[in-house]
Amino acid sequence: MEITTYLNEQRQRVEDRLAALMLDPVGAFAQHIESMRYSLFVGGKRIRPILCLAAAEAVNNNEQTRQCALPVACALECIHTYSLIHDDLPAMDDDDLRRGKPTNHTIFGEAAAILAGDGLLTFAFDLLSSPVSAALADPVRLRLIQTVARAAGSLGMVGGQSLDMIYAGKQVGYEVLRSIHRSKTGALITASVTCGALVAGASEEQEEALKTYGDHIGLAFQIVDDLLDVEATTEQLGKPAGSDIKSDKVTYPSLFGRETSRTMAREAVQEAIAALAAFNHQAEPLRALANYIVNRKK
Ligand code: IPE
Ligand code: IPE
Ligand code: MG
Ligand code: MG
Ligand code: MG
Repeated sequence: MEITTYLNEQRQRVEDRLAALMLDPVGAFAQHIESMRYSLFVGGKRIRPILCLAAAEAVNNNEQTRQCALPVACALECIHTYSLIHDDLPAMDDDDLRRGKPTNHTIFGEAAAILAGDGLLTFAFDLLSSPVSAALADPVRLRLIQTVARAAGSLGMVGGQSLDMIYAGKQVGYEVLRSIHRSKTGALITASVTCGALVAGASEEQEEALKTYGDHIGLAFQIVDDLLDVEATTEQLGKPAGSDIKSDKVTYPSLFGRETSRTMAREAVQEAIAALAAFNHQAEPLRALANYIVNRKK
C-alpha cells in the first residue's frame, strides 16, 4: 500500500479534528492557550494518533469506529506534544529547534513552556473523559483513560524520561538502555495502538497481538530516532541533529554502533509485523507503518 498517501490523509483528519477540539486563544487564558497551540499546530508527523486510527481500522473499519477513534487520537497527540515541549527545556535536553521552528520555551519563556506542557497533558484527559468528544461506552472510556495514564506516567513515559536524564553521561548496559527506550517512547506508542484496539472493540487476542505490535514498533521508533540524531541533518529533522551527543545520552548507536542498531530496529519491525499474522488486509496500514518507522528520514 502507498504509505505516503495514507499518512497524508490520516494526518489531515487528525489536524482537522485537533483544530476543532483545541481551546481557542481567547479570554483571560489567551496567552497560555496560544503557547499550547503554537507547539501543537507547528507540525509533526502525527504518528501516534495515526497508529491509533490504524489499529482501530485493523479491528473494525466502520464509520462509527472511525469517528470514535479520532478524539482519542487527538488526545494522544496532545500528550506527545507536551512531552516534546518539556523534553526541549533547558533543564532537560536544552534544544532550541522543534518541528522546524524555535522551541516553545525560546518563544514563550520557560515558565510558559512548562505550563503549556501541563495544559496539554491535562487537556488530553479532558478529551478522553468527555462524552461529547466520542460516543464510547463508559467501561471502554475508563480503560482508555487508565491505559493512557499508565503509559504517560511514572511507570511509562515520565519514568523513562527520568531514567534518560539520570543515566546521561553514565555507562549503561543493554537491559537498562532497552528499558529507557521502551518507557520513554515505547509506552505511549504501545498505548496509542491499544487505544485504537479498545475503541474498535477488539477481542482479548486481538488486543494482545496489537500490544505486541506496539511494543516492537515503539522500541524500533526510538532506535531510529537515535540513529537519525547521528545520521541526519538539522534541516532534515527540524530539530537539532547531534542533540544526544551534546547531552552525552546513552543511545543504541552509542552502545552498539550504527549498523547493529539499524539491524535491531529492522528485527523489531519484523517481529511487529509477525504479531499481526491473524489480521486481514485491514491491518495493511499497520504493516506499512511499521516499515515506515524503520525507513523514515525524519
Ligand atoms: C520525537 O517524536 C520524540 C520521540 C519520542 C522520539 P516524533 O519523531 O514522533 O516527533 P514529531 O511528533 O514528528 O515532531
Ligand atoms: C524523547 O526522546 C522522548 C520523549 C518522551 C519526548 P528524545 O529526547 O530522543 O526525543 P527528540 O530526539 O528530542 O525528539
Ligand atoms: Mg530527551
Ligand atoms: Mg530530546
Ligand atoms: Mg532523539
